[in-house]
Amino acid sequence: MLITNRLMLRTWQEEDLLPFAALNQDARVMQYFPECLNLEGTQKLLNLIAAHYRSYGYGLYAVTLKDTKEFIGYTGIYNPIFKAHFIPSVSIGWRLAAKHWGNGYATEAADAVLHEAFKRHGIKEIVAFCSANNLPSRRIMEKLGMIHSVAENFIHPDFAHAKGLSEYVLYRVSADDGC
Ligand SMILES: CC(C)(COP(=O)(O)OP(=O)(O)OC[C@H]1O[C@@H](n2cnc3c(N)ncnc32)[C@H](O)[C@@H]1OP(=O)(O)O)[C@@H](O)C(=O)NCCC(=O)NCCS
Repeated sequence: MLITNRLMLRTWQEEDLLPFAALNQDARVMQYFPECLNLEGTQKLLNLIAAHYRSYGYGLYAVTLKDTKEFIGYTGIYNPIFKAHFIPSVSIGWRLAAKHWGNGYATEAADAVLHEAFKRHGIKEIVAFCSANNLPSRRIMEKLGMIHSVAENFIHPDFAHAKGLSEYVLYRVSADDGC
């Protein structure tokens, strides 16, 4: 569990399923992905998240507001499994319900996750990637002190068919960069 000024990042609970499914079905949240996730897809994703925790001892946290305990999305680190030149690696990611955007929550959560990755898990480098036109995510990467490795931009193999969504950017930050 991680606690920040305004957030609690915790392991997942059964009651997260429905609010998580709701945000996975919101076209605004999923605008940089080829499709939304239905309830079944969300349950599968939760199973993958749980399996990842069991395998590696870290993963995506459920993010809640400290004051109200409301579930607002996820932030965490994970080992991506698609084929790309920078994999294996450990990646940081985030997804929040649209009504909570613009409050700095994703950056606040990700900053705590990065710190834990370097200090507690001893990970030497974290990458982040997103669709090149996902400007809010890129801004978070920049605010975290991550560096855009321009030469490493890539076509995401899982989304190669999705027009306008397959061109990805890659950012990196290492434990030595002082996070
Ligand atoms: C990405 C996401 C988590 C951001 O959440 P958030 O809590 O609003 O993020 P923050 O407030 O911490 O930071 C967002 C930054 O992006 C900026 N931003 C927002 N929209 C922007 C745009 N269209 N162009 C450029 N910058 C933008 C914000 O101004 C803010 O930067 P600032 O603090 O310098 O003003 C949220 O938009 C989301 O869940 N998106 C859908 C899921 C997703 O795309 N995840 C990443 C997939 S790889």
